[in-house]
Order: sequence, then structure tokens, then C-alpha cells
Amino acid sequence: MIQTEELTKIYQMGESEVRALNGASFTIDKGEMVAIMGPSGSGKSTLMSIIGCLDVPSSGSYVLDGVSVENMNEKKLAEIRGRKIGFVFQQFNLLARTSALENVMLPLTYAGYSGKERQDRAMKALDRVGLSQRTHHAPNELSGGQQQRVAIARALVNEPAIILADEPTGALDSKTGVEIMELFQGLHKENGQTVIIVTHDSYVARHTHRIIKLSDGKIVSDELNRNPIKAGMPRTEE
Ligand SMILES: Nc1ncnc2c1ncn2[C@@H]1O[C@H](COP(=O)(O)OP(=O)(O)O)[C@@H](O)[C@H]1O
Ligand SMILES: [Mg+2]
Repeated sequence: MIQTEELTKIYQMGESEVRALNGASFTIDKGEMVAIMGPSGSGKSTLMSIIGCLDVPSSGSYVLDGVSVENMNEKKLAEIRGRKIGFVFQQFNLLARTSALENVMLPLTYAGYSGKERQDRAMKALDRVGLSQRTHHAPNELSGGQQQRVAIARALVNEPAIILADEPTGALDSKTGVEIMELFQGLHKENGQTVIIVTHDSYVARHTHRIIKLSDGKIVSDELNRNPIKAGMPRTEE
């Protein structure tokens, strides 16, 4: 469970300061699927990097599964990230000239598994995202949607309780974006993982159960979406 209170993040830019987060408080329960929306510059990525223990807030508290993480050092944060969190980014962030299988095996390198175990787990994750036929292809031999599937397999391979995706459909055409959202929905349903997705596309957001909106580093709305869009529904605008 994610509990934050009055999170702020201030970036010092020479003489001036940028308040990327300005008192954000919310709770996300284990197993929720949530969208975070807001215009460019509203603090979405900053919030994700704090939730994902990539960075700490300037002030405020963040309790993750009962543990205060807001003042942890980099070593402890890295340990929590490795154990609990899988990340997916807009630009996939895959290693070039490296096969899908090796990209997905990478997070297991330091986990003490044998080569065979690493390979088996990576194969299973690639199978889950529908790419078992593409394991030896490098990123430049895959479509954008397939590259994002590899990135999702990489995020899943450690079986994290939380998946954080920052604009995962932002570099994809809308049909492929919807397929990626359906993949997240399937993972959420099967594994009960907490899934948090940043998007500025309200159609993407409406695939989740709850939509939190940010503006100028503050939460300006937080609403349940009782009828998330599901596979096969005709596309309608809000
Ligand atoms: N590392 C940084 N250094 C200075 N300013 C930053 C940094 N990261 C983000 N910002 C600023 O903080 C604000 C929020 O950024 P960000 O969290 O990336 O917003 P979003 O993801 O919603 O576009 C923006 O004004 C941005 O320019
Ligand atoms: Mg961003």
C-alpha cells in the first residue's frame, strides 16, 4: 500500500526554484489500477519517480507497505525498487543490439539465480506478453508495440507487487496503445498487481478503475471509474 502525505519536490534551477510537487496526499491500496493524468509539467513523472523510490521528496511523507521511505539512502531505495517495483517508460528504454530475451533477463542478473533459471523466468515473462516467438530479436527488429511488450516483460520478471508506467502508450499509435492497456488490465486481473499508469490521454486513463488528476504539483481530482473500458468495447469519446 502506498500512503503519501503533503509530498513536495523542489528543484533548484540556479537562482530560481521549481515546485514540481506542491503538497500531494493520497493513498493507493494494494491491487488498485490507477491512472495519473495532468498537463505537461504538472509533476506526473516527478510523482512516479518518488512512488517508484527513484527519488525522495523535498518534504512530506511516503509510507510504502508500512515502511517510511522518504528519507532512505540510495542503497536502501535501490533494494526496495528491486524487490517491489517494475518500471515501464514511454521510450521503452531497451538495450540496443541485445535480444528481447537478454533484455528481460537483465533485472535478474544480481538476484542470485542460475543462468537456466534466469532464462526460464525471462521466457515465461515474454510468453505472458505474447512474444515467445520473438525472443531472439533485437529492439530494432521489433515494432513499437512489441518493444513495449519486451519492456513490460522486463518489468514483470522480478514479479513486482507494483508496476509503474510513465506514458507507456505515448510513443505508440492509438490501436497499439489500447492493446498495451489491455495487457496491463490482464496482468492486473491475473496477478492482483498494483498498476499505476501516467497518461495525458483520457481514453487510455479510462481503462483503469481510478483517475487522479494533477495540476501544478497538486491533486485536483481523484475519482473512481466504475466502468473501465474493456477489450472489444466500441470506442466512444467522453
Ligand atoms: N530534474 C529536474 N530539474 C529541474 N526541474 C525539473 C526536473 N524534473 C522536472 N522538473 C520540472 O518540474 C516540473 C514537473 O515536471 P515533471 O514531473 O516532469 O512533469 P510531467 O511529467 O507532468 O510533465 C516541470 O516544471 C519540470 O520542468
Ligand atoms: Mg512526464
